[in-house]
Amino acid sequence: MSTSTLAFKNIQLERRGSVTVLTVNRPEKLNAIDRATLGEIADAVRAFTADPAQGALVLTGAGPKAFIAGADIAELQPLGPGAAEEISRFGQGVADLLEGSPKPVVAAVNGFALGGGCELALGCHMRLASENAVFGLPEVTLGIIPGYGGTQRLPRLVGQGRALELILSGRKVKADEAERIGLVNRVVPLDQLVDEAVKLVEAILRNGPLAVEAALECVVRGLSLPLDQGLRFESGRFGMVAATADMHEGLQAFLDKRPAKFERR
Ligand code: COA
Repeated sequence: MSTSTLAFKNIQLERRGSVTVLTVNRPEKLNAIDRATLGEIADAVRAFTADPAQGALVLTGAGPKAFIAGADIAELQPLGPGAAEEISRFGQGVADLLEGSPKPVVAAVNGFALGGGCELALGCHMRLASENAVFGLPEVTLGIIPGYGGTQRLPRLVGQGRALELILSGRKVKADEAERIGLVNRVVPLDQLVDEAVKLVEAILRNGPLAVEAALECVVRGLSLPLDQGLRFESGRFGMVAATADMHEGLQAFLDKRPAKFERR
C-alpha cells in the first residue's frame, strides 16, 4: 500500500523527491511513542519500503525539544508480565523494520531521544543529531529495562563498557559526547538537521543503487553473524553485484573519465 493512501494521527509524512521524511508528531507528550504511534511508524516504514519511488527515509520528531522522549510511560505503568513482554516484542519489531529496510534510514535526532526513542534511533542505519540532542536509556531509573532493542544494539554501536555505563546508570549524554562515543555520526545545528539528513541520503542515492543495497545488507546482516560467515556473505553479494550492468557501467565510466549512468539493472 502506498503511504499516500494511509491515514495517520501521530506521525506526518513528507516526500522530498525520493526521500521520505517521517516525523513523529505528539509534541505535547514530547513525541512519546504509545502503541498507536508505534503501529503508525510500522505501517509507514512498510509502505516506504514497498514504494519503488522512495529511496531513503529520514526519521525525526516534531518540535524543537524532542525526537522521541521514550515509550509512553502512562501506557506501560499498568502492564503485567505477559503484556510487557508483548509490547517489548512489538517495539523491537518496529526497530527491526527500520534496520531491515533495504534502503538507507537516517535518524535526525532533534532533542530528547530517551528510552524507546533512543532505541528507534539505534535501529536506524545512521544518526545525525542537533546540538540540543540528549540521548539516554533511563529505564532502570523507572524500575524497568530497555525493551525495544537497546540492550542489544547500544553495545554493538559503542562497545560493552560504555553501553553498560549508560544502561545501568541511566545517565543521559548530550550531543557532543554522543558524537565522541560513536552514538551519532555527527552534530549539526537544529535548523539544518533534517536538510543535512536529506543531503546525506541524496548523496548515497547518487551511487549505484544495487551496490548501495548490497553493501547495506552486508553490513546489517554481517553484524549479527560470526566474522567468517559475514565474509562469505560479503563475497556472495560481491559476486551478485558483478552480474549487474550497473557494475560494468560504473567501472567503465571511471576508465572513460565520465560520470556513471546507473540504471538499477
Ligand atoms: N511517556 C509519556 N509521557 C511523557 C513522556 C513519556 N516517555 N515523556 C514526556 N512525557 C510528557 C510529560 O508527562 C508531560 O505531559 P503533561 O504535560 O501531560 O504532564 C509532557 O510530556 C512534557 O514533559 P515534561 O516532563 O513536562 O517536560 P520537561 O521538559 O520538564 O522534561 C524530559 C523533559 C524528557 C526530561 C522528561 O519529560 C522525562 O524525563 N521524560 C521521560 C523520559 C523517559 O524516562 N523515557 C523512557 C521511558 S521508558
